[in-house]
Amino acid sequence: MKKILVVDDEKEICTFFSYLLKRKGYDVTTVQSGREALNIIAAEKFHLAMLDLKLPDSDGLTLLKKIKETNCRCQVIIMTGYSTVKSAISAMQNGALDYIEKPFDDIGELEQLIDHALSTTSYARDGDLLEMAAESGIILGENQQMLQLIGMARRIAAKNVTVLIQGETGTGKEVLARFIHNCSKRGVNPFIPINCAAISENLLESELFGYEKGAFTGANKDRKGFFEIASSGTLFLDEIGEASLSTQAKLLRVLETGEYIPVGGEKVRRTDSRIIAATNVILDEAVHNRAFRQDLFYRLDVLTLKIPPLRERPEDIPLYLDYFLRRFTEGKELGVRGFAPETVDILCAYEWPGNVRELINLVQKLVTVVDEPLLLPRHLPEKVKRRKNVDDITTNFDDSGNIAGIFEHDAGLWVDRLVE
Ligand SMILES: Nc1ncnc2c1ncn2[C@@H]1O[C@H](COP(=O)(O)OP(=O)(O)OP(=O)(O)O)[C@@H](O)[C@H]1O
Ligand SMILES: [Mg+2]
Repeated sequence: MKKILVVDDEKEICTFFSYLLKRKGYDVTTVQSGREALNIIAAEKFHLAMLDLKLPDSDGLTLLKKIKETNCRCQVIIMTGYSTVKSAISAMQNGALDYIEKPFDDIGELEQLIDHALSTTSYARDGDLLEMAAESGIILGENQQMLQLIGMARRIAAKNVTVLIQGETGTGKEVLARFIHNCSKRGVNPFIPINCAAISENLLESELFGYEKGAFTGANKDRKGFFEIASSGTLFLDEIGEASLSTQAKLLRVLETGEYIPVGGEKVRRTDSRIIAATNVILDEAVHNRAFRQDLFYRLDVLTLKIPPLRERPEDIPLYLDYFLRRFTEGKELGVRGFAPETVDILCAYEWPGNVRELINLVQKLVTVVDEPLLLPRHLPEKVKRRKNVDDITTNFDDSGNIAGIFEHDAGLWVDRLVE
């Protein structure tokens, strides 16, 4: 019989769980203090622990750590009030499976969560996750940090929390945002990307909030803004770090209250859109330099997902190379069949400043330009081979007929040719 521990200082919660879970055939133990919890954790092993985040003599995070130390296979669900969602999320980053907000208004969801927790040992490497990620265009390899990140994104997708995605250019911030959207109940509703750096300051307000007829010359009918179009969907605020201070102030207001007024309008409107923001600048530094509002940063920074750059996950590079090679050659009469192992070594050592986007572009160029079955080191552009740490690899293979020079030189032309 599956054993569940419930720790909550409210007696009613304990009684509720005893009743609910016993009826479902589980063996339930309830305790109301951190001290009792620690005693019982030391003495018994549980399959699942439901921990209140705030206890009079302790807290859920401390208990979580203790549980994971003594029995790492015990699943943990954190119970939290609205005000402590951020701590609950950090508990998830420390090994809790999930969190649920009190009061529980959907018992069905609670039961599902518990049944799920008891039926899995780990979300991390489940095939379903790889498939769901792939549907959004994310290919996952062996890198544990990436697997954890995507697992976390998937688990958090159903919650309405704001997500901040950080990562260098081309690391997949937008695909990750779409993945979160697709995994949530909002997936059937619109996903609206807005590039905060690209929209001019003047336009931004009417783009975001819409306008009413007569708001300004040329406004001859009402127009919906993104906050209305994305209501019940997801608004993706890309390059949020580039938003001007006055735009930041306007955004803060909607994020705090969910309310806004269209340009030229009087009536306040409400939006229920979920916000996912992305940035390739380190926002805490921008806050420090007063280029970014601290209050907006706190609003956005409930859950921050940092996508590691490609050079920090070289073990995934061979997988990406093969995947995109297949994708670009499938069904086409192209000569290229694969990468020579030495070529893969060089590409794994390259820094990839443009990350996955750069890798995709390179593979696409190579398969179009090279007409030999194997991609050899000599086919690679100079800048890729020029890396310090691959000098010894390249010298072994630096033979005649090097097309790298042409490659660099005519890259623009080729790209033009590739546009389908
Ligand atoms: N893990 C991945 N698997 C497969 N494709 C990926 C992955 N990560 C990124 N990509 C692809 O790389 C390209 C760049 O991704 P995306 O536009 O999401 O990056 P970004 O971080 O938003 O970049 P930027 O900061 O320049 O806007 C896209 O074609 C995307 O599909
Ligand atoms: Mg982007």
